[in-house]
Order: sequence, then C-alpha cells, then structure tokens
Amino acid sequence: MKKILVTGGMGYIGSHTCVELISAGYEPIIVDNLCNSKPEVLNRIEKIAKKRPVFYLNDVRDEEKMDKIFDEHNIDAVIHFAGLKAVGESVKKPDLYFDNNIGSTEVLIKVMKKHGCKNLIFSSSATVYGDPKRVPILEDDPVGATTNPYAETKYRIENMLKSLYGEDNSWNFIILRYFNPIGAHKSGLIGEDPQGIPNNLMPYITQVAVGKLPQLSVFGNDYDTPDGTGVRDYIHVVDLAIGHVLALEKIQHAPGLMVYNLGTGVGTSVLDLVRAFEDANGLKINYKIVERRPGDIATCYASADKAYRELGFKTKYTIVDCCRDSWNWQKNNPHGFDK
Ligand code: NAD
Ligand code: UFG
Repeated sequence: MKKILVTGGMGYIGSHTCVELISAGYEPIIVDNLCNSKPEVLNRIEKIAKKRPVFYLNDVRDEEKMDKIFDEHNIDAVIHFAGLKAVGESVKKPDLYFDNNIGSTEVLIKVMKKHGCKNLIFSSSATVYGDPKRVPILEDDPVGATTNPYAETKYRIENMLKSLYGEDNSWNFIILRYFNPIGAHKSGLIGEDPQGIPNNLMPYITQVAVGKLPQLSVFGNDYDTPDGTGVRDYIHVVDLAIGHVLALEKIQHAPGLMVYNLGTGVGTSVLDLVRAFEDANGLKINYKIVERRPGDIATCYASADKAYRELGFKTKYTIVDCCRDSWNWQKNNPHGFDK
C-alpha cells in the first residue's frame, strides 16, 4: 500500500497527516477545494516533509474529476477529511452541511467502488455521542442523539458506511472519532488557521495572546465539573495525524469495519487549558467568565483504550506541548497562511 488519496488534505488535520504519511513512506495525493484552507499549505508541507504531494484543486462532489484522479493513480486507500466543520454555521445552513459532507462521501464511495479501491478511513467526531451519559466514552456507547446538523452529518455518514459494509464486506472502513485537536507541527510551519473569529478555544486563546482579540470569554463556570468550566479531551494534532498512519497499517492487516476514538483519555477544563497556556509560554491571557454557550456540554473525554489495544495508538504530547506548539505557530504566523 503506497498511494493514499487524502481528501481535505490542505486543512488543519489533513496537512499534519500528509507530513506523517510522507515520513512513514506513503505517497499522499491531495484533493481539496480550498473552501477552508490556503494554497500556501502545500509549500509548507513540502518544506517540512522534503516532498511535495500531488495536489488536485477539486471538489470531492465533482464525480467526473474524481473519476479522472482515480484513473491517473493507482490509489490503495483513501483518508476522507474533506468536510465542513463549524457547528454554529451548520445550525444556520444545515442544507450546506448535508450537501457537502454527505454528498462528498456518496460521490467518493461511488468512484472508489468503480475503481475497486475499498479501503477508507473516515474522519468522524466525538459529537456523534451527543451529551454522553458517562465518561470516559467507549466506542460502543450510544451515538445518534446529535445536537446540531454538523454532528448529524457525521452520524449519518457512519451509518452509510456501516450499511455498505453490511451489503458488501469486501469494503474496509475505519471510522475515527476525534476528540478536540489542538497544537501544531513543531516547525511552526503548519497549524490551525480559522477564518474570521475562531469558535474553538485554543485558536481563540492564541489570538488573544497575539493581540488580535482583546479577551477570551469563558463560556460558563457553573457546570458540574471540578472548576465549573467545560471539560474536553484535547489531543495534539500530530498525535492525531499519527493515528491515521496506524489506522492505515490496521486496514492492511486486519480488514473489516472498525471504530476508534482518537483522544488522550484525559479531561482538561477551560481554565486548566488557559493556565497551561500561560505557564508554557510565560504569557497572561485576559479572560472573563460569561454565560454558557448554547448547545455546549459539561464534560466529554474519550476512553483511549481500544485505539491503544488494537492500533497501538498512544499519545505522546502533553497539554503543555500542545500549548507551546499552538503558540509557536500563532506567533510565527500572526495572519495564518496569509503573508
Ligand atoms: P479543515 O476545515 O481545516 O479541513 C477540511 C478541508 O476540507 C479543508 O481544507 C477544506 O477546504 C476541504 N473541503 C471541505 N469540503 C470539501 C469538498 N467538498 N471537496 C474538497 N475539499 C473540501 O478541518 P479539520 O479540522 O482539518 O477537520 C478535518 C476533518 O475532521 C473534518 O471532516 C472534520 O469534520 C473532522 N473533525 C474535526 C475536528 C476538529 O475539531 N478540528 C473534530 C472532529 C472531527
Ligand atoms: N470555550 C470557551 N470560550 C471560547 C471557546 C470555547 O469557554 O471562546 C469552551 C467551550 O465552552 C467548551 C470548550 O471551551 O467548554 C471547548 O470548546 P471548543 O469550541 O473548542 O470545542 P467543542 O468541544 O465545543 O467542539 C469541538 C469542535 C467540534 C468537534 C468537537 C468534538 O468544534 O467540531 O470538538 O470533537 F466535533
């Protein structure tokens, strides 16, 4: 197995994964329509990995073009990152999310089937668990009580893959449910580059630190958690990227349909993360406590045991590493990938 089609490979997680794929000897072929990423990412991947991936500026929903890409390359497996991911936007524009996320997966599956490529790793999300009844969350805990259209697209795609597998077990699917990716490559050359004001905590913190935003709003300190602020499972994006390399190894040697959480197994509160960021970087983050954000849950963290047992996945970066690398990326690239 050598040639790996990486949809959404110009994005935050996809770009870090391409670097790890190259260093593990794979040949990533990127398809991305750049709706949430920049062309400069390719130069940066090349600079780190010393190899420039083949890149197609293309929407995964464009079946004809996808067909041509599969004609041009003998693709062994696909890692499907392409999708829209902003929870708040999905509430305002659900049709866009269903069309893009589900539509792109349908086209991808159709083209893969036509070309006899039946190995797919899919980017799912902890949001499929909704508000979990218990933590740490196990892979066979209930899914489907989703609270927004984004999460619903992930849940429906998971079901699509499960029923496909039920009809034809020559498919190999690995569904990876990511928890909260943060951090950046240690080179500071690639990292998260959100458009507009960030929704997620870490990019908000780094933009306060760099002076782009005046103050962090902490959404609620009256949750049933040790310090009252929300608890999440923050995972370094390079650990997450390595999880995909391990999943590729698994898909080759133990085919079937498998589901794994990719998290650390550790919960960190908003204030814990702010403090860790301050300590790691010798900075002060101006914050205030405000109302809860509608739709947020108190606590969400993974059981990382199954991924460890079956993939050999073990995170190596700490929260401090995450904070240091996120800041290194932000301070070297105050305008993200725009010069
Ligand atoms: P990202 O937005 O940085 O990357 C997604 C990439 O897909 C972008 O480069 C975008 O241009 C591209 N894209 C979107 N729709 C496309 C289409 N129809 N055709 C071609 N390209 C398209 O997001 P990310 O953080 O790297 O997330 C990658 C995947 O992981 C997504 O599917 C996301 O839902 C999932 N995920 C992310 C998180 C997170 O917190 N970042 C958590 C759980 C799951
Ligand atoms: N938070 C703040 N202030 C902010 C932003 C966030 O206090 O400005 C808090 C939230 O209330 C929450 C925690 O920080 O307690 C984390 O919030 P994020 O928005 O960073 O992350 P979420 O857990 O809400 O959601 C993220 C992604 C989803 C993904 C999910 C699980 O946005 O797409 O993780 O993987 F599905």
